[in-house]
Amino acid sequence: MENRKLEGKVAIVTGAGSSGPGMGTGKAMSLLFAREGAKVVLVDMFEDRAQETLSLIEAEGGTAGIILADLSDVSQAPRVIDEAVAMFGGVDILVNNAALTSPFGLLDTTTEYLQKVITINLTAPFLLCKAAIPKMIERGGGSIVNITSIAAMRGQGGKGCPAYSAAKAGMTGMMVDIADSFGRDGIRINCIAPGLIDTPMRDTSILRAGLDKTKINLGGRNCLGVDGDAWDIARAALFLAGPDGRYITGVHLPVDGGVTATSH
Ligand SMILES: NC(=O)c1ccc[n+]([C@@H]2O[C@H](COP(=O)([O-])OP(=O)(O)OC[C@H]3O[C@@H](n4cnc5c(N)ncnc54)[C@H](O)[C@@H]3O)[C@@H](O)[C@H]2O)c1
Repeated sequence: MENRKLEGKVAIVTGAGSSGPGMGTGKAMSLLFAREGAKVVLVDMFEDRAQETLSLIEAEGGTAGIILADLSDVSQAPRVIDEAVAMFGGVDILVNNAALTSPFGLLDTTTEYLQKVITINLTAPFLLCKAAIPKMIERGGGSIVNITSIAAMRGQGGKGCPAYSAAKAGMTGMMVDIADSFGRDGIRINCIAPGLIDTPMRDTSILRAGLDKTKINLGGRNCLGVDGDAWDIARAALFLAGPDGRYITGVHLPVDGGVTATSH
């Protein structure tokens, strides 16, 4: 097929499954990248979730493979990159998407829970970048996309989620430093900050807050008045990771229907 934007590229997506029925952002990104010609390395801690994404990709004639890894274990990152290289011959794109949400406010967050959130949401992306960047440089460069959250930029109301917000904000700090240090090696790195996106993870958060999804107008809180979905994040990730983003690095892009642009 002609004019596919990621033809010949190898892309690693962490959290490539969905935590429930429906479309998570990692699943949508994996599918879209495969449609655009990438060989996609699906990293997830649950085999059935990764397998579902793999089946969808293969049903469309795409190419992907699974690496099972629980990213709360800090020894996993170098293994994931080594196995990805062995699987498809190199790494061109890394999407740090897997994350743990935090339901706890500051006063209820234990040190152990804080450490767990930081490990999955910040340490693992850090170590994956560390292991992937030398492999990308060997191929003349590469592109990294970190999935953060608007929680890294503004309060979330209620008790908030300070451990999650801190870890996501840390991904942005890491990004600007890597953008500066490795830009001349052909490495670009950007962040996407999703607003409330209609995914299984969001539904879990809504349930946990004791709310009824059908009774809250989620889109009504943003400028556009409509809900975002996983494909909105996937299209932004394709833009940043692929050739259309060739002159973009060090950017933290909200994909949130304008929520961060407003104060209400
Ligand atoms: N959905 C939203 O409203 C929203 C808003 C802001 C940011 N985000 C971010 O988007 C990303 C994806 O969210 P989603 O809503 O698609 O989630 P999701 O729960 O549907 O999918 C996340 C996937 O990551 C995997 N995963 C979780 N922990 C893992 C670990 N330790 N090791 C390996 N895999 C692991 C899960 O198994 C799951 O398949 C996350 O980084 C999240 O913080 C989502």
